[in-house]
Amino acid sequence: MTKKILVCTAWPYANGDLHIGHLAGSYLPPDIFARYHRLVGNQVLMVSGSDAHGTPITVRADAEGLTPRQVFEHYHARFLDTFQHIGISYDLFTHTDTENHYRIAQDIFTACLKNGYLYEEVQNQLYSETEGRFLPDRYVEGTCPNCGYSEARGDQCDDCGTLLDATELINPRSKTDGTTPVVRRTEHFFFDLPQLEDRLGDYLNDHKDHWRPTVLNFSRGYLKEGLKGRPITRDIEWGIPLPLDGYEHKRLYVWFEAVMGYLTASVEWAHNVGQPEKWKEWWYDPDAKTYYFMGKDNIPFHTIIWPGELMATGRLYEDDLTRAFNLPYDVPANEYLNMEGQKLSTSRNWAVWAPDLLERYDPDPVRYYLNAIAPETRDTDCTWQGFVRRNNDELVAAWGNLVNRMLGFAYRHFEGQVPSPAVLDDADRDILAKAEAGYQTVGELIESVRLKAAQEEAMRIARAANVYLDHKAPWFEIKEDRETAATTVYVVLRVIDNLKGLFAPFLPFSSQRLHQMLGYDSHLFGRQYTQTFSENERSHTALCYDEGQAAGSWRPSQLSAGQRLRKPAPLFKKLDDDTAEKEVARLSD
Ligand code: MF3
Ligand code: ZN
Repeated sequence: MTKKILVCTAWPYANGDLHIGHLAGSYLPPDIFARYHRLVGNQVLMVSGSDAHGTPITVRADAEGLTPRQVFEHYHARFLDTFQHIGISYDLFTHTDTENHYRIAQDIFTACLKNGYLYEEVQNQLYSETEGRFLPDRYVEGTCPNCGYSEARGDQCDDCGTLLDATELINPRSKTDGTTPVVRRTEHFFFDLPQLEDRLGDYLNDHKDHWRPTVLNFSRGYLKEGLKGRPITRDIEWGIPLPLDGYEHKRLYVWFEAVMGYLTASVEWAHNVGQPEKWKEWWYDPDAKTYYFMGKDNIPFHTIIWPGELMATGRLYEDDLTRAFNLPYDVPANEYLNMEGQKLSTSRNWAVWAPDLLERYDPDPVRYYLNAIAPETRDTDCTWQGFVRRNNDELVAAWGNLVNRMLGFAYRHFEGQVPSPAVLDDADRDILAKAEAGYQTVGELIESVRLKAAQEEAMRIARAANVYLDHKAPWFEIKEDRETAATTVYVVLRVIDNLKGLFAPFLPFSSQRLHQMLGYDSHLFGRQYTQTFSENERSHTALCYDEGQAAGSWRPSQLSAGQRLRKPAPLFKKLDDDTAEKEVARLSD
């Protein structure tokens, strides 16, 4: 039976380019996961978009003398480009400044209000006397009351992950002019999380067996400290207005509305494909499974706040005779990726930026390396040396070389066709069985979101195939016994065809090229493209995916004797030994 799988990825703030930390932590894992499920034949919906609101955008706009809209549109376009280059196969990657998102976000606000989960309260907030305005959280820095980190932001401490209220900061200072803000009173809407405490506790318990310990422990700790009502409106001009009169200068807090994007993007997608009700299959069908991928700083928003919002919303529309929303089934958040032993830092430019990286390297080696070192359970270190080594020793020397040797050999000695085998011996049957078993072992690992281990398992099979090939040595066999050589070549080609399938979620580009070299005309995956959509007043460009006639399937190779091969070409390029040194030198430029 086909399953419904919703794949969600954190919405990146469109205020700067994406770097390898974003790719490894939030975007590659869900793509591997989504591609796998599509190959299996499950119904996948993968959505996200640019986070266009909030102070991360306005801070940037102020710094550059641009409007917030100019800033997010610029980076949104670059995200689309990056995702297309590295093959993040969103069914829809939109943004939060669409009319669709506005409307539904306001409807959710209204539903939460009506259901009694929002209340108004006067709040103390930091006010800048020099600027004559309330300071949005990200315009304030200070010392974290929890861990003492001296550069905590007004909304969250990047060191210990605690969500903060700017007034909690010790020694707060304005980021714009360094002055000390004063506390003033202002009225805001609050999300009544304490009312949901028990339900959220049950929710976490229901998922304890399959969540990553890091995610479960963080969320439980958060709940254990006791939930507080959280303000969900802000005194700023950029963002989504409240659907109420008399609140013209307030906007929905970016975090409260950005997480709604998962739902609103699903609705937009359904509308775009001309089946406006179809999103419900992932959001209401209790058998559908929903997965949320992100970096660890986003955990509480997805394991507490967003489930809480879904609970508080209940049934969104009166005439909607549907059940409750599906809550996140799994939140496989990643830890952090460091670079050459140091924390990634945008301000110190200690990062490798995706557009730059993809201009100089093919997407599959980047995907392979970043997945090989993905920070699934702890922080990991990305190094150029590691990239070169994995590329040269694993992709080129193990997997690529197996393909090269055999396709070239078959092309030269067997008229470019898959030869007919004679009787298989034990070694032949054994390697074929190993490769076919990969559909079980690799598949199970991917389903439990152990993507690193899954990729290692595929590479282990490729290595075993090399051992088999070296042992059989058809280049000697062919001199004495053409039939035995033909059998070996047939077996290896079938193993390669299997490995192509196993590697496809991880290495979609080279797997497709190999698919063609093996003589197939079809496509393993659908097509990615950008499209511009018009609403009433606005239009936006989004990344889309069309499954089309994709022929990929997650089952053992059916490659048969006589199939015509195409002229082989190397799948991967060896990188020069001095690559790492050169790249490290570029790093801090
Ligand atoms: N924009 C946030 C960030 O980059 C993530 C938002 S995830 C969402 O950290 F779910 F809230 F959209
Ligand atoms: Zn802290």
